[in-house]
Amino acid sequence: MTALARAAAVVRWIVGVGAATAVLLLFTLEGAPDVPADAAPTEVDLLVDEGRAIYAQRCATCHGDAGQGGQGPRLAGTVIVNYPDATDQIAIVAGGADGMPAFAETLSDDEIAAVVGFTRFGLS
Ligand code: HEC
Repeated sequence: MTALARAAAVVRWIVGVGAATAVLLLFTLEGAPDVPADAAPTEVDLLVDEGRAIYAQRCATCHGDAGQGGQGPRLAGTVIVNYPDATDQIAIVAGGADGMPAFAETLSDDEIAAVVGFTRFGLS
């Protein structure tokens, strides 16, 4: 694949999976910037808030309220290390794993991006 075709494929993919995922990827690539405490909530803050609610409803029973682990592995502080590229983590949540349901049918792409964002930036 040429570089141009690859770039076009990446753009199509980002449009396809939604703006929320694109924001998430941007932060993965560039690292979260320093934000003053009184700044208005950013798109990432809103994403993390939405993800917090989805996490409590869909993930906490297995991964623990604070992501400390339980029936499923610990996520707090580990996912950024295990999945430097957020798309790999998104693929697991969408497609499921051994002992973990796939969420592609029950959550939208934006919801998956939000909950993945929460586990990366909202748990510690
Ligand atoms: C029924 C229990 C269960 C639920 C609900 C569940 N998971 Fe999991 N999850 C697991 C198990 C078990 C594994 C380990 C799978 C393996 O070892 O292959 C796992 C693995 C993962 C991993 C990979 C962790 C790593 O370090 O490799 C991520 C990320 C993850 N889950 C996120 C989520 C998110 C986000 C949700 C909610 C949308 C969720 N899980 C809901 C049981 C669950």
